Amino acid sequence: MNGANIKKVLIAGGSGFIGSVLTKQLQKDGFETCLISRMPRPNSITWDDLNQNGIPERTDAVINVAGQNVLDPTRRWTPGFKQNVIASRVHTNQMLVNVINQCDSHQKPKVFVSISGVGYYRPDPNQIYDEYSTGGDHDFLSKLCTDWEKASKVEGDQTRNVIVRSGIVLGKNGGIIQQMYPLFFLGLGSKIGSGTQHMPWIHIEDICNIFIQALINDKFAGVINGVAPEIVTNDQFTKTFARLLWRPSFLFIPEQIIEFVFSSERAVMMTRGQKVISKRMEELGVHIKHPTVEEALKDILK
Ligand SMILES: NC(=O)c1ccc[n+]([C@@H]2O[C@H](COP(=O)([O-])OP(=O)(O)OC[C@H]3O[C@@H](n4cnc5c(N)ncnc54)[C@H](OP(=O)(O)O)[C@@H]3O)[C@@H](O)[C@H]2O)c1
Repeated sequence: MNGANIKKVLIAGGSGFIGSVLTKQLQKDGFETCLISRMPRPNSITWDDLNQNGIPERTDAVINVAGQNVLDPTRRWTPGFKQNVIASRVHTNQMLVNVINQCDSHQKPKVFVSISGVGYYRPDPNQIYDEYSTGGDHDFLSKLCTDWEKASKVEGDQTRNVIVRSGIVLGKNGGIIQQMYPLFFLGLGSKIGSGTQHMPWIHIEDICNIFIQALINDKFAGVINGVAPEIVTNDQFTKTFARLLWRPSFLFIPEQIIEFVFSSERAVMMTRGQKVISKRMEELGVHIKHPTVEEALKDILK
């Protein structure tokens, strides 16, 4: 269903873990793609090009999946690094929205889809959150999500706005699996703290499908939680991952170590969690190909 008649898609952060899989899938589905990157690369423009020349001609849709890796263990959580984290999300959205707002009305992209995170919702062991729940104001990361999302709002009604509030993305060549695989392979896979914290997650193929549906289906608008239907805890995830690799999983990393390495402000992403579901996906009839963590991990490890 390409009701919106989208042909050319501009993808900020298209070189990253999510962006590169999404770009490949878009190309496979017959879309023309152009990336925005900090580095000059083939088939791409830089942020400076965007500022100077605006949106490339014939752009029908814009996606933003750019963002400095928050959980880079080699980077200390300094004010400078936090500023990078904000700028790479909030300022990139602002820049994209500015150039979209400046487009002549016949050249305006039909849709702008940007990513955000489920860190928007306050960690809680019992509460179930969907897109109609409130949040976005309890700590640095949730406020970041609020600012990130606010910065993605385009003026007027010519450009449809979609925000995909994603859970942890599981895939082969990046994200949490790439970071954790060596440890699990060595039999050192460990739950974090008690392991009872919930871990909203989604398979990379499913998050890319949500983005593509958001481009072509006019009914997609506003916030959509990008999460698989199965709710798991960190302990269940750890045990499943280790079992599928035929490795033990009796170890645990004390929360204090995670807080020491990452600082308590970002450690919450690992030590706390929230139960997140997507009512909007249900309403829109989105099919999730990998609904359980066991099946998703089997697919990734095969
Ligand atoms: N992976 C997940 O589990 C997950 C879950 C929820 C939300 N998200 C969000 O989704 C986005 C993409 O995640 P990802 O895992 O694909 O990240 P990634 O692999 O680190 O890629 C993100 C891309 O963002 C660009 N980027 C990095 N630092 C930047 C900076 N300081 N300024 C401007 N651009 C910068 C880079 O593109 P260039 O080098 O080409 O400029 C990079 O390829 C991030 O905003 C992340 O917070 C990810």
